Amino acid sequence: MVEERSRIALFCPLIRDEAIEAVAATLRSGWLGLGPRTQEFEQAFAAYLGARHCVGVSSGTAALQLALHVLDLPPGTEVVTSPLTFVSANLALLHEGLKPVFADVQPRTGNIDPASVAELVGDRTGAVMVMHYGGYPCDLDELYGLLQARGIPMVEDCAHAAGAVYRGARVGSHGDLHTYSFQAAKNLPAGDGGALAVRSDAFDERLRRLRLHGITSSSFDRSAGFAYRWDYGVSELGFKQHMNDVIATIALAQLAFLDEDNVRRGEVVARYRSGLAGVSGLELLDHESDRTSANHLCCVLAENRDALVDRLAEHGIETGVHYRPSYDYPLFTGEALPGVESFWRRAVSLPLHLGLSDENVDRVVETIREGW
Ligand SMILES: Cc1ncc(COP(=O)(O)O)c(C=O)c1O
Repeated sequence: MVEERSRIALFCPLIRDEAIEAVAATLRSGWLGLGPRTQEFEQAFAAYLGARHCVGVSSGTAALQLALHVLDLPPGTEVVTSPLTFVSANLALLHEGLKPVFADVQPRTGNIDPASVAELVGDRTGAVMVMHYGGYPCDLDELYGLLQARGIPMVEDCAHAAGAVYRGARVGSHGDLHTYSFQAAKNLPAGDGGALAVRSDAFDERLRRLRLHGITSSSFDRSAGFAYRWDYGVSELGFKQHMNDVIATIALAQLAFLDEDNVRRGEVVARYRSGLAGVSGLELLDHESDRTSANHLCCVLAENRDALVDRLAEHGIETGVHYRPSYDYPLFTGEALPGVESFWRRAVSLPLHLGLSDENVDRVVETIREGW
């Protein structure tokens, strides 16, 4: 008989009182759409990342689609990407009429393997899209070195990596196009929403139009001064993908706690790592000293993974698997890759959120140590 104890969730967003109070003020302010709070968040997040510009959008998926859209790649252009990511990232390629070409991942990080990227990039490659798996930064120097020499742009999906640091600089500041998600389970949870951190003024200007149907000036811009100006231009075919001030208010208030929250996430992961070191049939992922993970996930690699998942579930402990490879879904084509297969079939994400106590973590560790 398994002892009845409280359930331990895999994820659980912590929304601070500051965010709740700030939202109430925004809700009473008379401006809920794309407006002053969005601008404030964009400036604060760009400053936090060390990025030149930040553009607030409706989701991480929207940010990825817009990042691909501004590259103006002809239909059918190949984009080298990781199959070990949330499927929406690779669906964004399909929405843009692009062809995903799947690269293999590193066996001890889950991140795209620069050696595999090097083998796949060629004349047909229009871009490379990478994801910082679990918040652990990819080998950015190797990737940018390889791609800049060939003039190939790279999109960094930083959905897991808010606050991560790579070789002394925040992830989000190294390249031209970085995307973020503020969906409920993320390190910076705002209910939903996303952002792009970009270097080029031209991308920034165009993204601001594309997120709002291609309209040349937003309602907020047209409200400046004494009277509202109703007329606007439409410079190109855009999307309804802008951030709104309610989400921006939550994101801005939560941003003040991101570093503190990431420190706690790091403590939880360190506790798991020391508790689980040496467990037979279990492998921990790499943590190199030249980068700091945002610790969005605490993934470990387990033999007989499904048995471990079942055993933890019997003990009220939720787990996740990040991810079934995109090439397994019928919308995509692509051969199974050895690094991806060895990783995802063993991958199990342990509970990781700010509501976890050390005792909760110890309970997960003990349950695993008892065997599966
Ligand atoms: C790696 C990755 N990319 C993209 C996304 C998409 O973000 P959103 O849910 O905000 O559209 C997610 C979110 O789950 C994700 O985990």
